[in-house]
Amino acid sequence: MSTANGHNLDALVGAFRFSREWGMPTGDTFDCPPIGEFVGRWLRGAKVSIDPFARNKRLATWTNDLNPETAAQFHLDALDFLRKMESDGVVADMILFDPPYSPRQVKELYEGIGKKMTQQDGWRTHSWKAERDVINRLVPVGGVCLSFGWDSMGMGKKRGWAIEEIRLVCHGAGHSDTICMAERKVAGDLFDSPNNPI
Ligand SMILES: C[S@@+](CC[C@H](N)C(=O)[O-])C[C@H]1O[C@@H](n2cnc3c(N)ncnc32)[C@H](O)[C@@H]1O
Repeated sequence: MSTANGHNLDALVGAFRFSREWGMPTGDTFDCPPIGEFVGRWLRGAKVSIDPFARNKRLATWTNDLNPETAAQFHLDALDFLRKMESDGVVADMILFDPPYSPRQVKELYEGIGKKMTQQDGWRTHSWKAERDVINRLVPVGGVCLSFGWDSMGMGKKRGWAIEEIRLVCHGAGHSDTICMAERKVAGDLFDSPNNPI
């Protein structure tokens, strides 16, 4: 598969590390031991990191969470926060991307902070496209994004990112697994154009 400008996207799909672990489910994702191990191992060596959905975690250099009751440095909507990082000239080599996984989780937060959830707010959980497009501009080639959720879309090879590790964390019957994914940006500007459909 190749792009209009001749990049070979298949070259971005190589072998990656895979593991499956068991852990008790928790809303504080990184407190789940196999997920915490995954995050800690990847964060080691990062110079500038950004966590737009941090809750009370202060692991990253720059932390944000919409909920003002949390310990994050900023309490902005994630998209506004990422745009602020970009306009402030922040260059990050590590992103922690652990958003609400479903419209229901968004609704619970919004109700908790007295904000009305629109249909568009619910749709965002399907791809977080706008947020991921900003991340793609914030991170230079060689940087890493750790994504958590119920799908393995991540940053994606069409943005020039290659999967280096997937960890599936099983939480038992009746619970969705958490998919933890580490991707590295390996090619720049493949789809940075505003006309990028992905
Ligand atoms: C899955 S939790 C993150 C958990 C965190 N990684 C941890 O290990 O404790 C998602 C967080 O995103 C926040 N959030 C939800 N919608 C948001 C938005 N639009 N912008 C910024 N933060 C948001 C919620 O308040 C919640 O704390």
